[in-house]
Amino acid sequence: MSDETRSHYDRLGGAEAIRAAVDKLYLRILRDDRLAPYFSGVDVARVKRHQVLFLCALLGGPQTYDGPSLYQAHRGLGITPADYDRVVDHLEDVLGAAGAPEGTLVGVSVALVGAKPEIVEVPRDP
Ligand code: HEM
Repeated sequence: MSDETRSHYDRLGGAEAIRAAVDKLYLRILRDDRLAPYFSGVDVARVKRHQVLFLCALLGGPQTYDGPSLYQAHRGLGITPADYDRVVDHLEDVLGAAGAPEGTLVGVSVALVGAKPEIVEVPRDP
């Protein structure tokens, strides 16, 4: 199959590659002083498992995501737009380091466009 017709999931290297990228992503998130506090007391293994499934399904893999909706999973966490962008930057860095081609990175950010309003909570005026 030519590269243009393969899914982003296949171009990244399938579930194994996405699992490895999510492992690296959480090493970075938990080392990032701005992001780590969101995960205090959270079962990170569970979040990683769901995030792998979510990304596989989002990028055209055969998996079905069976976790909570992104809105449900993140409501009440008070995630700012800047911290959302920070996580996406870490994700793109680890995918880039894993050898994802530029077109695939663009595909990932396009696929994630719809996720941002589900995850970010715009602070209300006091
Ligand atoms: C890039 C887009 C993101 C995706 C695709 C994503 C995906 C997910 C998924 C699927 C879950 C559910 C896990 C589960 O309940 O088992 C989850 C939970 C969580 N996410 Fe995200 N996430 C994203 C961005 C973020 C950001 C930016 C933050 C914080 C800065 C964040 C913090 C969390 C936390 C703390 C939980 C666990 C909540 C809990 O159940 O206690 N996520 N995420």
